[in-house]
Amino acid sequence: MDRTYSKFVIFRISLLLIKASEKKLSVVEKTIDQIEAEAAGELKKALDKDAVEALSIKYLGRKGIITRFLRNISKLPGHLRPEAGKQANAVKKSLAAAFNETICCMNSNLTDESDSIDVSMPGRPVKRGGLHPVTQIIRTISDIFARLGFKIVEGPEIETDYYNFEALNIPKDHPARDMQDTFYISDNLVLRTHTSPVQVRVMEKTPPPVRIIAPGKVYRCDSDLTHTPMFHQIEGLVVDKNVTFGDLKGVINTFIHQIFDPGIGLRFRPSFFPFTEPSAEVDILCVICRGKGCRVCSQTGWLEVLGCGMVHPALFENVGYSTSNYSGFAFGMGIERLAMLKYGVDDLRKYFENDLRFLRQF
Ligand code: DAH
Repeated sequence: MDRTYSKFVIFRISLLLIKASEKKLSVVEKTIDQIEAEAAGELKKALDKDAVEALSIKYLGRKGIITRFLRNISKLPGHLRPEAGKQANAVKKSLAAAFNETICCMNSNLTDESDSIDVSMPGRPVKRGGLHPVTQIIRTISDIFARLGFKIVEGPEIETDYYNFEALNIPKDHPARDMQDTFYISDNLVLRTHTSPVQVRVMEKTPPPVRIIAPGKVYRCDSDLTHTPMFHQIEGLVVDKNVTFGDLKGVINTFIHQIFDPGIGLRFRPSFFPFTEPSAEVDILCVICRGKGCRVCSQTGWLEVLGCGMVHPALFENVGYSTSNYSGFAFGMGIERLAMLKYGVDDLRKYFENDLRFLRQF
């Protein structure tokens, strides 16, 4: 049946239905095409799920317009019924699909009440990252020295043999080279084994007075409970007129009492470093046993925290400083070791395993 003919049939259906049922007049006055067009127009204006559901009931419900239209087809003459039924059912099907699809779309746009945002609900906390404990302690130490007037500088992690050893009064074949298990890149290049080369680099570039600290990574071919191949150090250097060992003690005392508790006991113990003379190591009273002797302090009651001393004149000569007008002191410490003592951590490797259960505690 072509389209014009089908329209004609439906028109006829309408007329016949008017006659057949006086009560259904308002419904059947329209052709199925008109009903479909009106339903589509109303659907376009429906703003929410409730409005679409109401339309679905209006057209497809038990007493809906299409349902009634279909029911009334039985009152048509027999030869018109198949085509009228076919067309009305097709419209019924396409309207049902259109209603469903619109509701689905609205759901996925969260316009449905059950899915919508309840602005009165308390927010879900956003998980924030934190600074690594080593970074935290570097910042704490840097802050303490910044308040004492120190400038914070950095040096390269790949160093020449000259800066890492030679300029620090550690010539080739010097036994002190054995103290540091060096990673060699070539005959002349190493991964710096300590931050002390920064002392030389700074003095070469800056005339006295100098007052710096240099935090950074250092590398040694060593790995066990208390050693990792990479760790961090902070170097300190002060050069000026009339700098004495007393100044060194004052600065170190202030620093230790700020980073650990202000009442902690500490001592300067004579030691040796090629780049300082005299040299000392600083111990604090064991944080675990408070001096009684335990496993952590190997029964000595003391824990070593840093090395220090008066800058050796050989270094001044290497950088062209006058040894008669100036003097200075230097110190160096391992940051992970300091953090271990401060936080009571017994295995240094924990700082580098990236286990969040460990890191979240800081
Ligand atoms: N560089 C030394 C080391 O890695 C630590 C050190 C000791 C640095 C004494 C200094 C110092 O500046 O005066 O073991």
